[in-house]
Amino acid sequence: MSLATASAQGEPSLRTVLLKYFDSQGFIFFTNYKSYKAQQIAENPHVALLFFWSSLERQVKIRGKATKISTAESLKYFITRPRGSQLGAWCSEQSSVISSRQILEMEFEEVRRKFAQGEVPLPSFWGGYRVVPHYFEFWQGRPNRLHDRFSYTIKDGKTWNIQRLAP
Ligand SMILES: Cc1cc2nc3c(=O)[nH]c(=O)nc-3n(C[C@H](O)[C@H](O)[C@H](O)COP(=O)(O)O)c2cc1C
Repeated sequence: MSLATASAQGEPSLRTVLLKYFDSQGFIFFTNYKSYKAQQIAENPHVALLFFWSSLERQVKIRGKATKISTAESLKYFITRPRGSQLGAWCSEQSSVISSRQILEMEFEEVRRKFAQGEVPLPSFWGGYRVVPHYFEFWQGRPNRLHDRFSYTIKDGKTWNIQRLAP
């Protein structure tokens, strides 16, 4: 999915992340808590998500607030990841400037040696966010540009108000 964040001053930033799962509370993705996106979320928790299926002419827009999930919940997912991805989480200072690819590969070797015995621990700077939605828009392409658009806006925290929008 596409994840849009914005700084406190409103400068936007957009990137792809994996929607790992969703539950009755929201949409969960995992990342580095020191990354650029994490810095923006710390300043401004309002985010937007976008799903797009070209062949279905369909998109779903979501707006909500991102909050860190618990360490226990992050750990639950981290331990299911392939060992290489677990080690990669340790050696990547996501979004920071690096001088070469060689540095990255050397760091990987270093963490591989460091954690050669036993399980790879969960880095304190890695984990999930849950995006708690308060707005959805479902868009379906239709002929003659007469597309269907339905917005769902939450009222008093529990009931969804559904409205048709002009395409
Ligand atoms: C298909 C795809 C899936 C990705 N999934 C993730 C992900 O789940 N978590 C993540 O942190 N970055 C993921 N990335 C990398 C991000 O797009 C991005 O480069 C990275 O998170 C740094 O973003 P930032 O500098 O805005 O924080 C993915 C990229 C692609 C193309």
